[in-house]
Amino acid sequence: MTHLVNLQQHRIRSASINDLEAIVSLDMDSNPHPWGENLIKDALATRQNWVIESCDEQGSINISAWLTASMLFEQSELELIVVDRFFRRQGLARKLMTHWFDAIKRQNMGREQPVSECLLEVRESNLGAITLYKSLGFELMGRRKNYYQSEQGNEAALLFNLTISYQGERP
Ligand SMILES: CC(C)(COP(=O)(O)OP(=O)(O)OC[C@H]1O[C@@H](n2cnc3c(N)ncnc32)[C@H](O)[C@@H]1OP(=O)(O)O)[C@@H](O)C(=O)NCCC(=O)NCCS
Repeated sequence: MTHLVNLQQHRIRSASINDLEAIVSLDMDSNPHPWGENLIKDALATRQNWVIESCDEQGSINISAWLTASMLFEQSELELIVVDRFFRRQGLARKLMTHWFDAIKRQNMGREQPVSECLLEVRESNLGAITLYKSLGFELMGRRKNYYQSEQGNEAALLFNLTISYQGERP
């Protein structure tokens, strides 16, 4: 049974290689399909990463969520978002996703080719994540049959996209 921890305080910050151990532990405990240390190290070195540090009722500060996204030309792709299973349904994923959109809009201000689209892929069975993405405005754009391996055999990937409206003056 999952015991939810009431959130007292949290802050979002960029993540670095110094967070490797904490993110590996979050991934192992809270991601049903963990990435493992090597992939996480690569993500911290090559992609954009943010974490949420949360303070629980006992005053302990821990990394409770991680989002990693790649940026390529006019697209940014969500590679993974994971929230500590004890901190779920308190809006952390929504906050981290919104932070990602805001970062794109800020970075767009100095770019010749602004990022105009966010992309993601999700297992068809991951109804919680799909509900989250739809609530943020993502729209279904495709389905890849048998894309992921699962305990019940293969399962499809759903592809979603979201158009990012340009804000600020173009360079
Ligand atoms: C999916 C995940 C990131 C959601 O994190 P979270 O912090 O609990 O999400 P939030 O509290 O921000 O939820 C925002 C909204 O998303 C939807 N949602 C989130 N989890 C849901 C669930 N399990 N069932 C139904 N809806 C859900 C709800 O609409 C929710 O709003 P509400 O709580 O007001 O109803 C988290 O469950 C997780 O880490 N799962 C394991 C890793 C994973 O599957 N990542 C996504 C694949 S890339």
